[in-house]
Amino acid sequence: MVDTRHFSELGLVNTRALFEKAMSGGYAVPAYNFNNMEQLQGIVIGCVESKSPLILQVSGSARKYANPTFLPYMVMGAVEMAKALNADIPIALHLDHGDSFELAKACIDSGFSSVMLDGSHHPFEENANLTRRVVEYAHEREVSVEGELGILSGVEDEVSHEVSHYTQPEEVQEFVEKTGVDSLAISIGTSHGAYKFKVKPGQEVPPLRFDILEEIEKRVPNFPIVLHGASAVMPEYVKMINAFGGKMEDAVGIPEKQLRKAASSAVCKINIDSDGRLAMTALIRKVFAENPAEFDPRKYLGPAREEIIKMVKYKNEHVLGSANRA
Ligand code: G3H
Ligand code: 13P
Ligand code: ZN
Repeated sequence: MVDTRHFSELGLVNTRALFEKAMSGGYAVPAYNFNNMEQLQGIVIGCVESKSPLILQVSGSARKYANPTFLPYMVMGAVEMAKALNADIPIALHLDHGDSFELAKACIDSGFSSVMLDGSHHPFEENANLTRRVVEYAHEREVSVEGELGILSGVEDEVSHEVSHYTQPEEVQEFVEKTGVDSLAISIGTSHGAYKFKVKPGQEVPPLRFDILEEIEKRVPNFPIVLHGASAVMPEYVKMINAFGGKMEDAVGIPEKQLRKAASSAVCKINIDSDGRLAMTALIRKVFAENPAEFDPRKYLGPAREEIIKMVKYKNEHVLGSANRA
């Protein structure tokens, strides 16, 4: 086993140039979460076919699931696959919601090109100090760091909150200066998972707090902002899941129109996990409902991978604006 490796050995890039281009081009780079080979391939092929830059991201538990030693090789395989498809798209590998210096360091040492230190649930000073420590280690190795201020509601593996707390714009400049982070995740009304809002039928979901985003943009001009919890919870997949034996009632996400508006602002990275999970689940359920005797994994994981390719292309082209920007 290798002790440490630089991300360039895996064919990866950090997020610096990706965000510079996204900021001046008025689009957002997609950050898609994955756990397994079919998701990874679907995401990469979708970005190759739409000529989009890409941030591949894994949570701490997704990394554990895929196996920390195996994961960098999987990603290197995906980068090589993109090259074999004659695509020259920049790909970063990012730790999503890192919760400790040790985890961030382990990821950096294994070849990640970007890490998030999510200290948003700590008091300001503690968050800033922890994030600063990661930045010092990361920057010596050219690895990018994302911090977070403000709390999103919803459930992630390592992060679970009932209520959200919007980012306070007056804290942003001090945090960015103190920590030296390369990008900042903020809370303006998005949340994690497939149940983002409780709305009655026919009722619109509450709009994102673009006023807070604008205030932040004034305080740290041209600084890359990250939007977590940004799945649209695509209704066609929820419908398909429910039609083929699933039970996902009241699943609601962020309207695409609002995501488009965010993508054209200082938001340079948009995180999408739930929509990929829904696409995969919908197709697997469909195959099993229509072919109950099927037991060849390729017959249900294959269509799921095809659907992820379709979904990624659609998002890059019509929501994030990252298509043809590689
Ligand atoms: O925001 C977090 C992602 O949705 C990751 O979810 O921790 O279940 O892998 P996970
Ligand atoms: P969604 O649950 O809305 O896809 O959010 C994903 C995310 O923020 C990953 O960090
Ligand atoms: Zn998140």
